[in-house]
Amino acid sequence: MATLIEVLAAVGVLLLIPKVYGLLSFIWLYVRPSSVHNYLHGPKPAWAIVTGASDGIGKAIAQELYDKGFNLILHGRSEQKVRAVVEGLRARSTATGARDVRYFLADAGAPGHDFAKLVAPYSDLNITLVVHNVGGSSDVRNERLDKRSEAEMLCDFHLNAAFPLFLTRVLLPQLRTSAKHGPVLVQFVGSLASEIGPPRLPLYAASKAFLKGLTRALDNDERAWSPTGVHFTYMYVGEVVTNSMKTDVSLGSPSAETFAKAYVARIGCGWRRYHPYVIHAIQDWFMQGLGENVVDRFVMKRMGELVVQLEKRS
Ligand SMILES: NC(=O)c1ccc[n+]([C@@H]2O[C@H](COP(=O)([O-])OP(=O)(O)OC[C@H]3O[C@@H](n4cnc5c(N)ncnc54)[C@H](OP(=O)(O)O)[C@@H]3O)[C@@H](O)[C@H]2O)c1
Repeated sequence: MATLIEVLAAVGVLLLIPKVYGLLSFIWLYVRPSSVHNYLHGPKPAWAIVTGASDGIGKAIAQELYDKGFNLILHGRSEQKVRAVVEGLRARSTATGARDVRYFLADAGAPGHDFAKLVAPYSDLNITLVVHNVGGSSDVRNERLDKRSEAEMLCDFHLNAAFPLFLTRVLLPQLRTSAKHGPVLVQFVGSLASEIGPPRLPLYAASKAFLKGLTRALDNDERAWSPTGVHFTYMYVGEVVTNSMKTDVSLGSPSAETFAKAYVARIGCGWRRYHPYVIHAIQDWFMQGLGENVVDRFVMKRMGELVVQLEKRS
């Protein structure tokens, strides 16, 4: 007969197994070799779409993908800025030779786009990766919801949620064709805001949470009954130094280039929701351990500093 101590030890081991498995999977996520090359497949050259690619994280991800061997379709709203990025990429000489870079323009915060028409010029391309990077908050001000107009709120919703959703909708048949030859990935770019609900950014936080919900449901939609090979993932983004987050580069606030390298290294990692940048993951884990009240107080303090900084600049 097992003693009480033996029973308790067995229960302890059973409870520990998922924790140890979780820790090992977490470590593996950040040390495993990149699978990005798995998306360079098919009878024709592989293409990636990156939205909001004229600056910040999107531009840095486009550069990383170009260097890894992808042809690119970039999206932006300012022709001058997107063209500068396209020309910069074309001038880049890499070990794997030159690739094609194209672009399209659309104000992602505005309603009423003909999405099918926007992507029609690329309908015969082998698109294997879509990075829905465009997003942000139209204006970060020290004002509550009732001071915002409906038009402003709709703009934030279009920019962060409707634009990626409607673009995905028109691309899906083409992505399923590409997926006949290998894996195809649709990447939604989220934010820690969806987890921590920062004050003065309710629409932004909720729009990113919308993308998170969409990720799992669409991924299951493509997998159920007759799997198509198209997968959806959601990345959490913490502070990254860009035009939208004008702070100093530090370990917790990397440059867009450092963040983009971390993202491209994680492509194809098999996780549906994850932090590409390990320090953000540790910050998030630590915050979850602290509980909501402590995190809320910390987030309020940090948002207060950011709002003051932004108001001084504008
Ligand atoms: N940086 C952070 O700390 C942080 C944190 C959490 C999540 N994120 C997310 O990461 C993504 C990229 O952010 P970022 O920091 O790199 O921002 P960013 O530096 O401001 O760049 C945003 C990109 O999107 C484009 N864009 C913005 N509004 C647009 C519109 N209405 N129509 C078309 N294009 C538009 C910008 O074009 P222009 O060049 O013309 O401005 C730029 O190319 C966003 O989804 C953001 O929510 C960032």
